[in-house]
Amino acid sequence: MTRTPWWRDAVVYEVYVRSFADSDGDGDGDLRGVRSRLGYLRDLGVDALWLTPFYRSPLADGGYDVADYRAVDPRFGSLDDFDALVADAHAHGLRLMVDIVPNHTSDRHPWFREALAAPPGSPERERYVFRRGAGDAPPTDWPSAFGGPAWTRLPDGDWYLHLYAPEQPDLNWRDPRVRAEFEDILRFWLDRGVDGFRIDVAAGLFKDPEFADLGDRGRHSPGSPIYSRPEVHGVYRDWRRLLDSYDGDRMAIGEVWSDDTANLARYLRPDELHQVFQFHLQLAPWSADRFRAVVDETIEAVAPTGAAPTWVLSSHDVVRHVTRYGLPGGPPGIGAARARAALLFLLALPGSAYLYQGEELGLPEVMDIPGEARRDPIWTRSGGTALGRDGCRVPLPWSGTAAPFGFGPPATNPWLPMPDAWRHYTAEAQETDPDSMLTFYRRALAQRRALPPDLPGTVEWPDAPQGSLLLRRGPLTCAVNFGDRPIPLPPGRPLLTSATLDGTLLPGSSAAWLTTT
Ligand code: GLC
Repeated sequence: MTRTPWWRDAVVYEVYVRSFADSDGDGDGDLRGVRSRLGYLRDLGVDALWLTPFYRSPLADGGYDVADYRAVDPRFGSLDDFDALVADAHAHGLRLMVDIVPNHTSDRHPWFREALAAPPGSPERERYVFRRGAGDAPPTDWPSAFGGPAWTRLPDGDWYLHLYAPEQPDLNWRDPRVRAEFEDILRFWLDRGVDGFRIDVAAGLFKDPEFADLGDRGRHSPGSPIYSRPEVHGVYRDWRRLLDSYDGDRMAIGEVWSDDTANLARYLRPDELHQVFQFHLQLAPWSADRFRAVVDETIEAVAPTGAAPTWVLSSHDVVRHVTRYGLPGGPPGIGAARARAALLFLLALPGSAYLYQGEELGLPEVMDIPGEARRDPIWTRSGGTALGRDGCRVPLPWSGTAAPFGFGPPATNPWLPMPDAWRHYTAEAQETDPDSMLTFYRRALAQRRALPPDLPGTVEWPDAPQGSLLLRRGPLTCAVNFGDRPIPLPPGRPLLTSATLDGTLLPGSSAAWLTTT
């Protein structure tokens, strides 16, 4: 019998380090804060943590602008703190993944400083994507993901590419020095004991060598000059060899946005990445048809590779799903009810699930952060017309009845303001409440661990009433009622429900797990 590697069906918890727990009261979460809460994560029942970037950074994009890939930013701690965190996480039975940001560096990275100091055409500039424009026009029509053009012009006439903020210049992966550097960075963290990497903007490393315009195509459309160019796969083959040369099932998951689900499979060839994110569930509205279609498309695309799919409902980049599933003007609590049901759906699927910090507390998106407190470059670059992602990055409420809610010591002024209403959402308030979201998450994760290990990697969809789904994997059935009227429960013994059953009826906006063994 072959042993299943840990990541194949792991539940991974995304820690947005800056907003998780602040040990020293400077307003930014830090590695010691994460370490102090490992017991909470173990008790929650997740298998692994993914830490968002904690590297030295001016934080122009929350740390996805790295100035030194081998250093911990002093705001987040030190390398000693990191080593202690790895050791403690492992002692708690938790794996630890880190984010790696290969598409771009910070504009404060020494390489970019050298590039700016060197003349056009110099080897220093070769590590980035510098081009001449046509007169006053940038070299291509490519947009920055954060708004505005993806090119910034220097006084000497060269333009440099930044698919994100101008403080995040894109690296030139055709330069062998870039490739060698990142292999070395991977080794640095592997040697420190990390179990895996989440690869930021994994599809972006190579751009069309002809620099063709995008025109009216989508950035992530098939054949886009910006993402998923064929050359990128060579990099991941090299990385796979590197990961495989270490013991202990080290893995990598790519952040690959693509309009074409089938494209994901290319990254999952057996000698490439272990996993890619599948974001279509996260993008799907609360709809039986959409949820089912996403699952079918994903499994169909991933199955031939032999890899397992991944699923995610929220992250540091999107509006929290309690809020997404809420109905403006609808019954209060409907977003939370649907989020509970969605969790049972997510955890019933084959493959691994990625949770985002705070979803286990049922945190809603914070919509009313004052403009002057917002930090996301999307907010500033859009001139305040796009809210950006700060609303899902507000620090976690742990305890107490007033800000900072145990996020840091009492005098802490959190880097984003925490709403007063969050006194109802603290981990402390939910801890002993049998009906809280936290209790429900713990129960669901414990139940998932108790499932037979050999459930099929595929799903069946027995007939279900209109507006509902029955998802079956061997003896496990997950029934989800997307509508608002009760439906009959399917046969089987209920293992867990997201709402109190109405006799043998499953209420609207709820889900149940049943077993036929
Ligand atoms: C990814 C990250 C996002 C970041 C961007 C640029 O999409 O998830 O937070 O802004 O890459 O690095």
